[in-house]
Amino acid sequence: MPVEMPVEMPESSPGGGGTTGAAGLVGLEARPGVPKPDPILVADGVTRRFGGLTAVDVAHVEIQRGTITALIGPNGAGKSTFFNLLTGFDRPDHGTWSFNGTSLAGVPPYKVARRGMVRTFQLTKALSRLTVLQNMLLGATGQRGESFLQAIFPPLWKRQEAQNTVRAEELLRRFKLDAKRDDFAGTMSGGQRKLLEMARALMVQPEMVMLDEPMAGVNPALTQSLLSHVKALREDGMTVLFVEHDMDMVRDISDWVIVMAQGAIIAEGPPDLIMSNDAVIDAYLGGHHDAPLTLEEEQQQSAAAEAELTRLAEER
Ligand SMILES: Nc1ncnc2c1ncn2[C@@H]1O[C@H](COP(=O)(O)OP(=O)(O)OP(=O)(O)O)[C@@H](O)[C@H]1O
Ligand SMILES: [Mg+2]
Repeated sequence: MPVEMPVEMPESSPGGGGTTGAAGLVGLEARPGVPKPDPILVADGVTRRFGGLTAVDVAHVEIQRGTITALIGPNGAGKSTFFNLLTGFDRPDHGTWSFNGTSLAGVPPYKVARRGMVRTFQLTKALSRLTVLQNMLLGATGQRGESFLQAIFPPLWKRQEAQNTVRAEELLRRFKLDAKRDDFAGTMSGGQRKLLEMARALMVQPEMVMLDEPMAGVNPALTQSLLSHVKALREDGMTVLFVEHDMDMVRDISDWVIVMAQGAIIAEGPPDLIMSNDAVIDAYLGGHHDAPLTLEEEQQQSAAAEAELTRLAEER
């Protein structure tokens, strides 16, 4: 039997080639909308207009399960809007999309999370007036539902809360935030809040995590730690889709890169290929506003990094 796409092949052992995880991306054609051998997320004809502006116009895209996929593109390309649509925070004008083979159209965010897909925000949504632990517990709400039965049987609810607290504390340890358990989130640095948001997203034990600019505003002292946390998600078997302007991060950790410009997917493929693609470079030169740092900004950043390192050292 001629085999064009290796869809019927048995699951491979890690690193042994085959259709699962990053191995399934090897040899795939690098073109927008290319089918993946083991997609966890599939979107078709998703469009979103704001007045006369078409913010998202994605014809077809598939995300391979168990990989780290980067979604890049100039400012205003529609990346965050696409995240909002996929996770139920916004509604498209047209389109369908499915997660693990089940349609998510019209499903509200908390139910999307319960089905195993969670996201973080470009501007962190850690609640400043709650403690770190309270923020974590908030991430678990709706995990099993605040059902009628739980409301009339407090012991059930209590047990759930105790389990959530144990999980929250484990995650805080993993993200080295356990010392901050009872601090208000508002007292933490931007980078620590990004870590808290990632940790909070993991409270629902998701299969797929979507990170909107995890490195933005993160102190250089914390970037390595953030990178290794994202890689660890993949090692734990999760699928990661992240939006990022930091091309070093994209090159360093992604298995596959998808490029958006003016709402549409204009290219996808392995990082090396995409980073040298002329259309991608043009899209960025045409529309990305991150100017190189001035000397003053550079000095500010390194002073901030030093202060963070000193503080971290003092805490030990
Ligand atoms: N609620 C809204 N109302 C009107 N226009 C919007 C709204 N949200 C987004 N837009 C517009 O849609 C386009 C896509 O915005 P989006 O935030 O998705 O871009 P992005 O790729 O995430 O950009 P960035 O890299 O700057 O975060 C932009 O032109 C933006 O101004
Ligand atoms: Mg954005």
